[in-house]
Amino acid sequence: MPSNTRTDIGHAIDPDDIGHNPTSNPSFNDLIASRLSRRNLLGLGAGTAGVALLQACGGGSDDAAATPAPAPAPAPAPAPAPAPAAPTLKFNAVAKGLADTVVVPAGYTASVLYRLGDPIATGVPAYANDGTDAASTYDRRAGDHHDGMTYFGIDASNKWLPASAARGLLVMNHEAITPLFLHPTGQTLSGTGNAQVRTVADEVLREFYLHGVSVVDVARTGSTWSYTQGSPFNRRVHTLTEMTFSGPAAKTAYLTTKYSTDGSRTRGTVNNCANGTTPWGTYLTCEENWAGYFRRITATDNPLRSAKELVSFARYGVSGTGRELWATVTPDTADNIYGRWNTQVLAGAANAAADYRNGANTYGWVVEIDPFAPTSTPRKRTALGRFGHEGACLGPVVVGKPLVWYMGDDSRNEYIYKFVSTQNWSAADIGGGLAAGDKYMDDGRLYVARFNADGTGVWLELKLGVNGITSTNASYAFADAADVVVNARLAADVAGATKMDRPEWTAVNPTTGEVYVTLTNTNAASRPITATDAANPRFYNDPKGIAASAQTGNPNGHIVRFSDDGANPAALTFKWDVYLFGARSTASADVNLSQLSADNDFSSPDGMWFSQANPGLLWLETDDGAYTDVTNCMLLAAVPGKVGDGAAKTITNTSGATTATQATFVGKAPGNDGLRRFLVGPKDCEITGIAESGDGRALFVNIQHPGETTPNASIGTPAQFGSHWPEGGNARPRSATIVITRNDGGLIGT
Ligand code: FEO
Ligand code: CA
Ligand code: CA
Ligand code: CA
Repeated sequence: MPSNTRTDIGHAIDPDDIGHNPTSNPSFNDLIASRLSRRNLLGLGAGTAGVALLQACGGGSDDAAATPAPAPAPAPAPAPAPAPAAPTLKFNAVAKGLADTVVVPAGYTASVLYRLGDPIATGVPAYANDGTDAASTYDRRAGDHHDGMTYFGIDASNKWLPASAARGLLVMNHEAITPLFLHPTGQTLSGTGNAQVRTVADEVLREFYLHGVSVVDVARTGSTWSYTQGSPFNRRVHTLTEMTFSGPAAKTAYLTTKYSTDGSRTRGTVNNCANGTTPWGTYLTCEENWAGYFRRITATDNPLRSAKELVSFARYGVSGTGRELWATVTPDTADNIYGRWNTQVLAGAANAAADYRNGANTYGWVVEIDPFAPTSTPRKRTALGRFGHEGACLGPVVVGKPLVWYMGDDSRNEYIYKFVSTQNWSAADIGGGLAAGDKYMDDGRLYVARFNADGTGVWLELKLGVNGITSTNASYAFADAADVVVNARLAADVAGATKMDRPEWTAVNPTTGEVYVTLTNTNAASRPITATDAANPRFYNDPKGIAASAQTGNPNGHIVRFSDDGANPAALTFKWDVYLFGARSTASADVNLSQLSADNDFSSPDGMWFSQANPGLLWLETDDGAYTDVTNCMLLAAVPGKVGDGAAKTITNTSGATTATQATFVGKAPGNDGLRRFLVGPKDCEITGIAESGDGRALFVNIQHPGETTPNASIGTPAQFGSHWPEGGNARPRSATIVITRNDGGLIGT
């Protein structure tokens, strides 16, 4: 029914590609330079001293180096250990390619483990993959758009054992959906414009369940990995799952809804992109581009709102019909499972306890889930701020020191944040579940990063009364501590944070404690040639395709890295450089600044994670639309150096006949020994999410939305689908987790 199928929804366009930052913050060339020279600063404290226990975010085994298994009691911090030798990449690079398959190096095998729709509970039938599966079963099936992922090793007594090599709980995000392939003929719709509505409630129920998080019990038998259907640990968290709030915004008027009149609870999580971990063994899922899911028709709602509310809505992009039109289903249920996505002031509603006018405030948080307690209620940790949370990467973990999480806000011109706990880490809390989260994540300091032109940086605290965040601030009068976390973007604007080229994943190098952040890309409208700065330095044209369509701005992205001063993650200052610049290997020297070759050139870095079993090995994933005339998205293995291993450089940016110079700091070129392509995915996919078994001999990778740009009109013509992966033939494509092993059973990549 093409005439009845949604064609205007733009799923082919990454909803990340929306910016809502109107401030004139950056151009950090304008900021006052430090009195100290970069050379002097880089000579101070950039090494590993003091980093005793290290832990990285995202996937993987979470094993603190000095506590490979849950320990019964706190231990004094051990003396600093010498950095291990850097690993050596030992595989032949995979060539760029456009085939509809997963390609890995010779000597490796990639197998499909967990696909969209796969049943996790007993009694749920295999997925038909034609849109006919019963909607009521989807709360016990794999979600869509697999994304950030962690492997929690588990022992024979069902306790967390990070080093477990053959069994673990694989916990992963399901960021979004490709609606075309979920229903018989795509989403069934009626009407146009603001009057367009969804007419099949079961289709919407499927979509509610297909977002969120999976917990699946996976195990190796011989050399084959599979998930255990019916394991009591298997769980789906989705948009209907009960959640509680904790931290400064909990039980405040900002979170009052008809569902929870005291602001203590909400339902669900959505658009969960990257992830994070805790040293006590829980999973963090991060709500990224949640704003677009809410319906708020500005023409009717704006007159009913306060000036402050309007500033907040504009800054977070809360306007429109709602990307999946979930709020339009009639009749609504008694508990408003559809209407709760309408975040407008309802006619006849006396106050915020009578509708969902605050619904948008209940999303945009970091959510903690205890995978070892399948009936536990996830908690939204409001102390970490509300924005487009890409991920929450745990910094180096040291007994007796605060815990730190690094976080990106993924939209053009958004910021990089960190949260520092008030409580100091005690290893006695390993295995403490959500109660440990209450201790470390509900009370602390939230900071945002300013990158100075001289290679230094400053963490600016977001707190009422400091850095201009006051009740008398002209652009937005902050009322209280809850207002600051609910409107963290506005607080960061006032504090003077640096606008970045779309912060995606964050990763911490366990051998140095240094922090890496992918800045996936931006465009000329968001960062014109006149608005580059030292940390976001490039403006160029990357012509795409035979017709050489212009792509201007920074279409290939880069990776910034920084070292908190004194190797102290709680420090308020840091040093930074640009580790890598994405580019075609054939691009000019001022574009291909990292001197990438045919064996390691890439565009739009996104997922990123340091191996724990193989310290010093970095995995880098792409979510690209710029280089896709030449190659599908990919996974690369890297062995990075450290901040300051390259040199200061002044580059020449070009926009048509206009040129401009920009000073920056470029990390040492990686060469083929420092960066090598390991995998190329199927057509029209993103490579994202990565984790490894406790021994590092199985690598789990997510293939997201193969074939997602298939035109809706093609649903009746399978031969026109953009991908048929993984089933092949004329099958609808499915997002899936794959597992990669080395045929000789060795470590992956080295
Ligand atoms: Fe969901 Fe930031 O990509
Ligand atoms: Ca991403
Ligand atoms: Ca992305
Ligand atoms: Ca995506």
